[in-house]
Amino acid sequence: SWDSHSIIDEQVAKIRKQVGDAQVICGLSGGVDSAVAAALVHKAIGDQLTCVFVDHGLLRKGEVEQVKHDFVEATGIKLVTVDASDDFLTALEGVSEPERKRKIIGEKFIRTFEKATRQIVADAANAGSEIKFLVQGTLYPDVVESGGGDGAANIKSHHNVGGLPDDLKFDLIEPLRTLFKDEVRAVGTELGLPEEMVWRQPFPGPGLAIRIVGEITRERLAALREADAIAREELSKAGLDRDIWQCPVVLLADVHSVGVQGDERTYGSPIVLRPVSSEDAMTADWSRVPYDVLAQISTRITNECREINRVVLDVTSKPPATIEWE
Ligand code: XMP
Repeated sequence: SWDSHSIIDEQVAKIRKQVGDAQVICGLSGGVDSAVAAALVHKAIGDQLTCVFVDHGLLRKGEVEQVKHDFVEATGIKLVTVDASDDFLTALEGVSEPERKRKIIGEKFIRTFEKATRQIVADAANAGSEIKFLVQGTLYPDVVESGGGDGAANIKSHHNVGGLPDDLKFDLIEPLRTLFKDEVRAVGTELGLPEEMVWRQPFPGPGLAIRIVGEITRERLAALREADAIAREELSKAGLDRDIWQCPVVLLADVHSVGVQGDERTYGSPIVLRPVSSEDAMTADWSRVPYDVLAQISTRITNECREINRVVLDVTSKPPATIEWE
């Protein structure tokens, strides 16, 4: 649209002026904001930008490929991917307390990003240039709220705003600072980013780790990933994904109940569907998803995920419940 056109032109000019011939680094999370911020900066300065993607092994089905292949193909961005999933899973072994999960993931995340950044800084130095800037996908509502986060920070610690050590401080480039989410999506679309990325619903930084109630194991992650993919597919097939704010799919890993699947007694875990409608995630209501859509999700999950023999619906608003279970 004309609007996103002028936003892009304005930002491109501003970024070029700010950066000159210095080098820039940007962390990608798989989410909308960092992807659009990176694409904008790339449009302005091309290969002076290097992106870093820490794969913590806790993303949903297809999301890593979306960043590593679809996003890179759409933009031509120079991307360094760190596959740190083994590292994260080892650090999370035996941990079930939600805030401990967040702490461990937040700490590991920033240290992994730091290490990758040091390497990129060293490579740039060898090539006779310097990394001077860091891109952040800060939006206007984050700025207004000052202090950042989405307001849930008092109740749950969010790790997105991480701290690099003093010897790795960069000047910030925040090309989305004046924009609202719908404008960010329009800009992302205009820049040709993959539609699934542009329209991705909110997803927590600690990922699937806080959607497994109990300890995190590879098997549990695999089961949850499958169930989540089915729910997302059916909701979007029903045309509901832009009405629903988000739909966490939660594995109650330590709960077991009796079922019959394929004429056999099973003793599996339940999956909780948590579709919510909301304006800003501060308050939320449970979404009245049509029964036939719920039925289809339930049938598919219990047919296709061997470990899951029961699907339940969360009908609690926020408050008193939070959106995520952890
Ligand atoms: P709650 O569960 O607090 O969630 O009602 C409010 C919004 O924040 C998201 N959320 C997180 N986002 N790191 C994040 O980046 C986190 O640790 C985290 N915890 C919750 C949640 O998905 C919802 O959109």
